[in-house]
Amino acid sequence: MSLHLEAKPGEIAPTVLLPGDPLRAQWIAETFLEDVFCYNKVRGMLGYTGQYKGKPVSVQGGGMGIPSNLIYCHELITAYGVKRILRVGTAGSYQPHVQLQDIVLAMSASTDSNINANRFPNATFAPTASFELFEKAIRYAKDHDIPFKAGNILSTDVFYDDHPKYYQQWAAYGVLCAEMETAGIYTLAAKYGIEALTLLTISDSLVTKEALPQKEREASLREMMEIALAIV
Ligand code: HPA
Repeated sequence: MSLHLEAKPGEIAPTVLLPGDPLRAQWIAETFLEDVFCYNKVRGMLGYTGQYKGKPVSVQGGGMGIPSNLIYCHELITAYGVKRILRVGTAGSYQPHVQLQDIVLAMSASTDSNINANRFPNATFAPTASFELFEKAIRYAKDHDIPFKAGNILSTDVFYDDHPKYYQQWAAYGVLCAEMETAGIYTLAAKYGIEALTLLTISDSLVTKEALPQKEREASLREMMEIALAIV
């Protein structure tokens, strides 16, 4: 038990898939895992453990944004001994060549959150993916002809920005897309010496203003899930 998770000791696997949406956690567990059980319903933030090809894997909803996700990641690591966190989520494209349904592997995550400014006054920390997980994901995608983009992303604190052109400065520096969690997760993983990787599918584009209908989001998640599960 921890403050926000009611799993018993040993019920959460060392490897956790972390979607934002708790119902997506349920969908992932029920679609891809066997022998699934639900270990958490606190705050409706569903968490499941099951088996993938004989290996235990958990799937935990993390909510939206760095603060919510860091509550769950902190408890998963410190109370349940989790060693590997794979965020599986969606992102908004910042680049014309990053299109709806594309897969993006986050090599690093810039942020406009103050989370690391508070940790490292007068300095910037560079939140970076686990090289081992990143390399495995890329190797799997290449070997299976799954197209992907890899690079720097932005973990932003603001979904509905006052300035519609805010993204352009990041885009000018090659940032591929925006989501709201990874810089926090990579930082916490570094702090506790565990592995973390974020895999994203593009659900909307700030360049073209298109957005994937909710129904089509699920279909585009499947290839990303294939990569995530292959590397656990
Ligand atoms: N901005 C931030 N987070 C997101 C977006 C976006 O456009 N799309 C999906 N998550």
